[in-house]
Amino acid sequence: MPANLSVELFGLKFKNPIIPAAGPNVGTGKQCAAAAKGGAGAILAKTVSAKAAEVPRPDMWKYDKLGMLNAELWTEMTLEEWEQREFPIARAAAKEYGIPFIGSVGYTPEDLRSVGPRVEAAGVNAIEFTIHYLDPARVVETAQALRESVKVPIIGKFSPHAGDLGELAMQIDPYVDAFACINSVGPTMLLNIERVEPVLGSEFGYGWLSGPPIKPIALRCVFEVARRTTKPVIGIGGITCGKDVIEFLMCGASLVEICTVVMYKGQDVHAKIAREVQEWLDAHGYDDVNQIRGLYLKKYGIGQRVVTQKEEAPVVIEENCVKCTICEKVCFYDAISAPPKTLAKVFDAPCFQCGLCVAACPTDALVFKPRDGVTMKIPAALEATDAETGERRAWPKLA
Ligand SMILES: Cc1cc2nc3c(=O)[nH]c(=O)nc-3n(C[C@H](O)[C@H](O)[C@H](O)COP(=O)(O)O)c2cc1C
Ligand code: SF4
Ligand code: SF4
Repeated sequence: MPANLSVELFGLKFKNPIIPAAGPNVGTGKQCAAAAKGGAGAILAKTVSAKAAEVPRPDMWKYDKLGMLNAELWTEMTLEEWEQREFPIARAAAKEYGIPFIGSVGYTPEDLRSVGPRVEAAGVNAIEFTIHYLDPARVVETAQALRESVKVPIIGKFSPHAGDLGELAMQIDPYVDAFACINSVGPTMLLNIERVEPVLGSEFGYGWLSGPPIKPIALRCVFEVARRTTKPVIGIGGITCGKDVIEFLMCGASLVEICTVVMYKGQDVHAKIAREVQEWLDAHGYDDVNQIRGLYLKKYGIGQRVVTQKEEAPVVIEENCVKCTICEKVCFYDAISAPPKTLAKVFDAPCFQCGLCVAACPTDALVFKPRDGVTMKIPAALEATDAETGERRAWPKLA
């Protein structure tokens, strides 16, 4: 039997753990319906606010292979337009596909008190609020304002520039049902050097980075929040394939949101990524996606750190080596010999175990032995919630 992909969060059943993140991919009711048709585990609509956004043009630019800079703010439509035209289409699609319908709102406590109840009245099953353009000093007040204004479950979506996200999660924990990490990273900028112009049409050309370049930041943020709370965490940032989803789930996420990959690959990517998660679970002997959640968190989240207990040079798996010479080029310790048409050879003595050859080898022909976690001395003053037992446990603060 194929592994179960459905996930339950605050009483809502998600068909699979891959849902849209707010962006142009869910910028209209029609796009929300297309996401549902494309296999999303839920619909999440574009962020609405008290006023329509004035979006500069161009507002999206490609960076590297699948990265993006954007200056899109929130929806360029009014709340009335969403109420009259877009929300009903999205709601009907969620009903047709039997999946939850989530609204997204921003930004100030005043905005949320007026916008929250209207989005709830549009028939959403939950509301995510984003703090992206909010003064971090007002986050607690904002969470409280939305909590007091609506009855449906609420999700606090964090931006990495908001500071210590683990600490922020603890501050708004009493008001929210879940956390989502992260929004795009920045501000950032890119130039057109021929014209000495910014690529984006925003002030100074500033924009927000998304896609694979932000995945490591997002993983760290999910981990940081998940080690502090027992409430569900939603992972967002740079996900493009099933293995990315597994990585976020292992860090403590219950499900994930995707935006940039949909912009480049289309709405069917939801189903494709879900299929890849399924295949990975089946190949690794898991029968339920929920078994993956927090595996890394349990191993390293409460006072363990990763160390190479026995320092050893990487081993060459000869049948995988395609004699490409890359490892010799990237070894700055003269510890590899890999001339053209020759199997790579690693010399133990000069090897610094830096890891670069292992990561750079295109065919996984270099491997380290698996590393063990060893227990560190835990500073008594710091505490977290044990993901497994729910008990308060000491934890070391991240550097
Ligand atoms: C063009 C664009 C527009 C976005 N608009 C919103 C938005 O309105 N509200 C929001 O909370 N996040 C917005 N985001 C952020 C995404 O929801 C997501 O958090 C971020 O892009 C990281 O995920 P990704 O790497 O899968 O894109 C936007 C992202 C992009 C690329
Ligand atoms: S990088 Fe990998 S495949 Fe290329 S020579 Fe080195 S071990 Fe062989
Ligand atoms: S781990 Fe670093 S030092 Fe050792 S062989 Fe590879 S690149 Fe060289």
